[in-house]
Amino acid sequence: MNPEAPLRDLWYMPALSASLKPGAMRREMLLGEPVLLGRMHDGKAFAIRDICPHRGVPLSAGKILPENTVQCPYHGWRFRRDGVCSAIPSLVEGQDMDPEKIRVRSYPVKEQDGLIWVYVAEKPGTAPKGEPPRIPMSDGQAKASGHATIKKANPKPRWTEIQTFGCSIDHAVIGLMDPVHAAFVHDHWWWKRTPRVKEKHYAPLPTGFTMSKHKPSKPAYSLLGDVTTEITFELPSTRFEIVEGRLFGKSFKVIGLTVCTPRDEDHTDTIHVMYWPAWLTPLLRPIFMLLGPTFMADDRKMVELQREGLKFSPNLMLIQDGDQPAIWYHRVKKAWAESVENGTEFANPVQERVLRWKS
Ligand code: FES
Ligand SMILES: [Fe+2]
Repeated sequence: MNPEAPLRDLWYMPALSASLKPGAMRREMLLGEPVLLGRMHDGKAFAIRDICPHRGVPLSAGKILPENTVQCPYHGWRFRRDGVCSAIPSLVEGQDMDPEKIRVRSYPVKEQDGLIWVYVAEKPGTAPKGEPPRIPMSDGQAKASGHATIKKANPKPRWTEIQTFGCSIDHAVIGLMDPVHAAFVHDHWWWKRTPRVKEKHYAPLPTGFTMSKHKPSKPAYSLLGDVTTEITFELPSTRFEIVEGRLFGKSFKVIGLTVCTPRDEDHTDTIHVMYWPAWLTPLLRPIFMLLGPTFMADDRKMVELQREGLKFSPNLMLIQDGDQPAIWYHRVKKAWAESVENGTEFANPVQERVLRWKS
């Protein structure tokens, strides 16, 4: 078992719904595998291995036919969204061959909250263990009001930014959860403040941990008034920041989702998606448009610098409370990898704790 390999039997998020129109498809590398991500004319997204089993041509170079199959550009073999070959045009009568016996790997896809999630199973064809995360926009996704039930499912992404980091998923994730780098890496007047001792409570989640709800100390948050924030992390690389408060007499949630999607060993897309109620758009969207790309580029440039050192395979250190989230990440990852390998139940090794550091 290679400890650096991305985990399997988990959902990854390679693309946003808005980036895939009906009838479109493209190659998306995922965990080093070429995946055709497409959307049939009926609107449903799907994912299959992007290699034609006949002669290896990328199926994504072909086209999606009106009958909702993918046609290979070389000899026109057609594949359904479940990966089964539905037609081989060169066959003539009397040639006894059942195309449906031929198939390419298909990946379970789930589309929700404006995001496309793809499940990467350890053993192709096995059913997903669990569902991809939902955006916790409203408590329990639905709330009753009088006689009608208002469903708040599928909140809309209000702002998104994708940057490709030249590193493995591990370094991208660790950078994301590192509580002590901000003063150095995000050294902007609108973000920094004089370092001081922080004390934060952490608790386990099903496949990760959370920095429990607290009042944020960064002055940037005061734009939203008196708020609380909670920051969660779960496997494989899902971080939520859930900011809650009240403004103009209305309570709101602003949710930031960040995922690290491993493309191959040395490339990881960091995808950041913000959700908020529509009435906050005029306030928040200009700020994110102006500052968001810079903020994410700070982290990207740091892993690029880090790569210059990692080329020489140095021994690295994880020290004290400031590095504890990274230590937990390695432990949770290892426990998941072992549970997949041995077919055993996953047990989260994280224990509730208070961490202290200066930043
Ligand atoms: S290579 Fe795809 S049909 Fe021949
Ligand atoms: Fe950062």
